[in-house]
Amino acid sequence: MKTVSLSTLQAFKRVGEPISCLTAYDASFARAAGEAGIEVLLVGDSLGMVLQGHASTLPVTLADICYHTRCVVRGKGASLLMVDLPFMSNSTPERLLQDAGELMRAGAELVKVEGEAWMADGIRELTRRGVPVCAHLGLTPQSVYQLGGYKVQGRETEHAARILEDARTLVEAGASAILLECVPASLGRAVSEALEVPVIGIGAGPDTDGQILVMHDVLGVTHGRTPRFVKNFMAEADDIPGALRRYHEDVKARRFPAEEHCF
Ligand code: KIV
Repeated sequence: MKTVSLSTLQAFKRVGEPISCLTAYDASFARAAGEAGIEVLLVGDSLGMVLQGHASTLPVTLADICYHTRCVVRGKGASLLMVDLPFMSNSTPERLLQDAGELMRAGAELVKVEGEAWMADGIRELTRRGVPVCAHLGLTPQSVYQLGGYKVQGRETEHAARILEDARTLVEAGASAILLECVPASLGRAVSEALEVPVIGIGAGPDTDGQILVMHDVLGVTHGRTPRFVKNFMAEADDIPGALRRYHEDVKARRFPAEEHCF
């Protein structure tokens, strides 16, 4: 695989080629994902749940994220590296710039931030300083207590329209990509069609410009209730590299997500 950059993702969007994305938290799995062809790796704050065993992503610190970013950088190969700003990094403009700077120094190539239209000023300041941003909309796990749980967002017409409007506002402010989590497939399609930047979906239907899942979910290392949008690719593979390849191929061929994974 050639080195993946933001321009690669833009080109994929232009020609309608789906983008395969997956979380990674260490060098070995980052290497395996890259070898499987996965184009974007995310050091997600989901590490608080799948690595650290917390009930949410809120306890994850900037130091935790930087540590795992440095691990992933050593193994990642040609994949583009997106990294999450943790809970409360967006609490003040100064902290946002400071924390994003730390992530870039650790090896991030795209910084992901949760928040709605109010994040526009922060995104403008980041992009002005050379920090590419992916804005995370829909179900934003850092707001899980405010949302009352991990629930589908944008089912009502007005809420769907607000999510679409927020996406437009954040792209106008400079966001290079949107990550859309847990929304009806119709909204995933509408947001992707409305924007010129790539829209990466998780539980957002088959028509977004790319798909992302959490590595542990793809490998069937889950406990408790698994969300509808998750698929265990180990069930159809002989080994971990095979499961990662299968995920990549199914995303590229638009075989994943299937109807049973959508809202
Ligand atoms: O933290 C994370 O892994 C994420 C994905 C669920 C998209 O934000």
